Amino acid sequence: MNLMKKLNNRFYSKALSVSFVVVFFTIVIGFASSMASDKPGALLWGENCGRCHNVRPPSSLTDDQWDVAVLHMRTRANLTEEEAKKIVEFLKAGN
Ligand code: HEC
Repeated sequence: MNLMKKLNNRFYSKALSVSFVVVFFTIVIGFASSMASDKPGALLWGENCGRCHNVRPPSSLTDDQWDVAVLHMRTRANLTEEEAKKIVEFLKAGN
């Protein structure tokens, strides 16, 4: 059978578009849930901030210095705004 004729068949094209929609939403939902981080600041700090250098303990800098340092490190560590905020809060709570 001619493939195009088969695809033009109403049943097949409907089934095809339904499965495209399903695949599309599966990807979008999967992507969105992998972006959202439910992790607390302490865990994010532990996972991210020791990758390139020894972790600096929260007590090593003042609140203002942590604001600046995490601003720099946020881009290096590829953190979302929310993740960076949680890390700063954790660091400030411990200095
Ligand atoms: C991709 C590698 C990388 C990651 C991840 C990383 N850092 Fe850094 N960090 C560096 C480098 C390189 C330097 C030294 C050069 C510089 O300061 O830009 C540095 C320097 C620092 C300094 C010294 C002070 C300063 O501002 O220069 C602090 C404090 C610091 N990092 C904290 C953190 C924290 C907190 C995190 C987690 C949010 C983190 N780093 C994640 C690479 C990284």
